[in-house]
Amino acid sequence: MEKEAFVATRTPARLLLAGAVAAAAAFGVIMVTPDANAAAGTLGAAAAQSGRYFGTAVAASRLGDSTYSTIAGREFDMVTAENEMKPDATEPNRGQFSFSSGDQIYNWATQRGLKVRGHTLAWHSQQPGWMQSLSGSSLRQAMIDHINGVMAHYKGKLAAWDVVNEAFNEDGSRRSSNLQGTGNDWIEVAFRTARSADPSVKLCYNDYNIENWSYGKTQGVYNMIRDFKSRGVPIDCVGLQTHFTGGSSLPGNFQTTLSSFAALGVDVALTEVDVTNASTSQYAGLTQACINVPRCIGITVWGVRDSDSWRSSESPLLFDNSGNKKAAYTSVLNALNSASPNPTTSPTSPGTTTSPTPSPTVSPGGGGRIVGAQSGRCVDVPNSSTSNGTRVQLYDCNGQSNQAWTLTSSKQLTVYGSRCLDAAGSGNGSAVQIYSCNGQANQQWNVNSNGTITGVQSGRCLDVWGTGNGQQVQIYDCSGQSNQRFALN
Ligand code: G3I
Repeated sequence: MEKEAFVATRTPARLLLAGAVAAAAAFGVIMVTPDANAAAGTLGAAAAQSGRYFGTAVAASRLGDSTYSTIAGREFDMVTAENEMKPDATEPNRGQFSFSSGDQIYNWATQRGLKVRGHTLAWHSQQPGWMQSLSGSSLRQAMIDHINGVMAHYKGKLAAWDVVNEAFNEDGSRRSSNLQGTGNDWIEVAFRTARSADPSVKLCYNDYNIENWSYGKTQGVYNMIRDFKSRGVPIDCVGLQTHFTGGSSLPGNFQTTLSSFAALGVDVALTEVDVTNASTSQYAGLTQACINVPRCIGITVWGVRDSDSWRSSESPLLFDNSGNKKAAYTSVLNALNSASPNPTTSPTSPGTTTSPTPSPTVSPGGGGRIVGAQSGRCVDVPNSSTSNGTRVQLYDCNGQSNQAWTLTSSKQLTVYGSRCLDAAGSGNGSAVQIYSCNGQANQQWNVNSNGTITGVQSGRCLDVWGTGNGQQVQIYDCSGQSNQRFALN
């Protein structure tokens, strides 16, 4: 067991050092300013440096295993429910929805500051028995009702939904299934239904064996996305499952595939990564390919330890059965730490455009609540914590001190008098948290006339991915969208 497995924290090294600098100043000690891009010690923190996330699939049944939940909560900043948000789990009887297991994962994740991807709404597999026996217009309606029912429950809460999963054959034709039997337009109907059900969440098509650019299935999916974009069918992202298991391996043209999909105007993500025997070169290569493509927004591995994998006999994950970091973990971490800030202009919400930099307006001394324009919810310090590094979130406005912010003459937004709103980094996706006020530029904010609040250090906007209670606040390229507008009152 490597010792650092137990000492790594979610707190960026820069902030720990910032605290040390402040303490040293108080004692009259001269310190050299640390490197702003010091290597991060966890996968999530390392990915966040370039505005990306690093996630894992989580099984509700394993959350009681403390080794599992400790690693998952420490290393990752995105979670996908491995089975709990699939159709058989969420609608076991027609019209009767069940969210207990999915919510267990959602609550576990958001209580720890992790975001959640939804997986999956329309799929030929893992359908409940009643759905398997339907066909034609009855199945089409059941699919629509299912999407509406599940998305209503998670509205405003998720980073993305895998709307449709695995709808293509290996040769690039459509997979024959009961859903395909309802008509070739079933996929676009699913996406249009999903956009109406929750306009704030990113909508993804997700599949395996679409990593090799010259493969028939890759071209089939590519042509569908191109067609959707040309006809205005709502789609925001493509998930490449990236199962390099069962005989598959990293193709040399993987980056070409990612950049080709991205060039269609969608985000790309690696959504279910696992690699036979956790080959370090393949793990490093797939990570680097994502880093090299600005619209590759994140990587998710399909489980925590080898023993948690659907293919455990191939030992395909980043932690061994005992929870020790494997060599592949280090190869991924190093690749993430070598990335420069992501220059992507990729939107945080569908259909984003850029907007010019506005001028600050609110007078110093003003303040009170910071209310999200899209959500109507307040920027809130969870559980009234005063701990440095506590990430702020959206929550129902309640007038309490953990939602009361003051804009100072030095552009700080203070809470409880001595804590400042603090950007944990300057790249897209960097966390926004509270930290002891230290006068640095990552704690200075411009409150602008157009409703945005921009970081002085980063120039980026306060941003949220959704509207629900518990949604975390981050910084992101200013887009002009309502998820980046706030009222200070
Ligand atoms: O929970 C039951 C348990 O009560 C029962 O005793 C046991 C008997 O076999 O089955 C258990 O359910 C299993 C479930 O995983 C939870 O472990 C199912 O049989 C099993 O089929 C299911 O497998 C899942 C598989 O999707 C189903 O298609 C895997 O966990 C899950 O990792 C896998 O994930 C898929 C993605 O959703 C889509 N892409 C491929 C990926 C890997 O196959």
